Amino acid sequence: MKVLITGIAGFAGSHLAELLVRKGNEVFGTCLACESLDNIRRIRRSLHLSTCDITRSDHLFRVVKRIGPDQIYHLAALSSVAKSFSEPLDTIGNNIRGTLHLLETVRNLKKPVKILVVGSSDMYGRVTPKEVPITEEKTLLPVSPYGVSKAACDLLAYQYFESYRVFALRARAFNHTGPRQTTGFVIPDFASQIAQIEAGLLPPVMKVGDLSSKRDVSDVRDVMRAYVSLMRRGKPGQAYNICSQKAYRIRDVLKDLLRLSKRKIKVEVDKERYRPAEIPVLMGSNLKIEKATGWKPRIPLMKTLEDTLDFWRERYKVS
Ligand code: GDD
Repeated sequence: MKVLITGIAGFAGSHLAELLVRKGNEVFGTCLACESLDNIRRIRRSLHLSTCDITRSDHLFRVVKRIGPDQIYHLAALSSVAKSFSEPLDTIGNNIRGTLHLLETVRNLKKPVKILVVGSSDMYGRVTPKEVPITEEKTLLPVSPYGVSKAACDLLAYQYFESYRVFALRARAFNHTGPRQTTGFVIPDFASQIAQIEAGLLPPVMKVGDLSSKRDVSDVRDVMRAYVSLMRRGKPGQAYNICSQKAYRIRDVLKDLLRLSKRKIKVEVDKERYRPAEIPVLMGSNLKIEKATGWKPRIPLMKTLEDTLDFWRERYKVS
């Protein structure tokens, strides 16, 4: 099976590539010319890489045509909710353009190709207590530019299925984390500070944003398994939540991380980290994906936190 991953060198892309290589697929990937390949260094020899800016339609079409994939996992995106408030045009432009060009490319290929478009629970926006756990039926009402961009990508996948019978799957991933996720997201933001404090690179004071929100957090490795199950068993045009169906308060996640630390750390709220609009609770129902594929998350949050903290400790290790 020839499988193409857009954004293969990113956090999620690298975990997906490892999984697909392990399963015996021929794995192709696109990355940006300026991008670090550090995340995929261990499997670099098993991969076929193409530098490609997916927001350039001509370039993308040539690359995809040359590869001739059977399946495409579309992961390349600007994925920070926080940053999307200060860079709305970049986020919306890149995410929508990349997805649209890819769907157009697939539509114009001679052979049928399955494509999985990665959306986000951020597109649901704020929910009432009655709407939790969130099902795929919930109206999309995003409150961030990132959420708007992902809602558009999800709807484009739907439209390309309805209009042109493109085999597009809509994966609505809730929060997922683990080793290699960059700072700018809450768990790496916390874990990287702990690692720097332990290494004596920062004073023992942890800067945090809004700790009151609740998020449905899964391990990235579980979420990548969900993408693969959906590719195998998901129905085209359908949307699937990928989530643990558990809501963790960010304050409690912070406490768990602090408990793993070797140092006593003071917590300091940094109002700069607050957002113009916050979603208080995101917790999804995973019934639909479980019914369709049998997928269930396996890795407990504590293991994910330990692995993520160890990843940052390795990075700031004093030699
Ligand atoms: N980033 C960050 N940094 N968030 C913080 C911090 C901090 O220091 N302190 C508190 N938070 C709060 C945020 O305000 C938010 O309520 C929550 O922690 C989670 O923030 P993020 O990790 O940035 O994730 P997100 O929920 O906004 O978006 C993530 O999940 C989406 C799926 O729901 C991202 O991974 C998206 O790419 C993904 O699609």
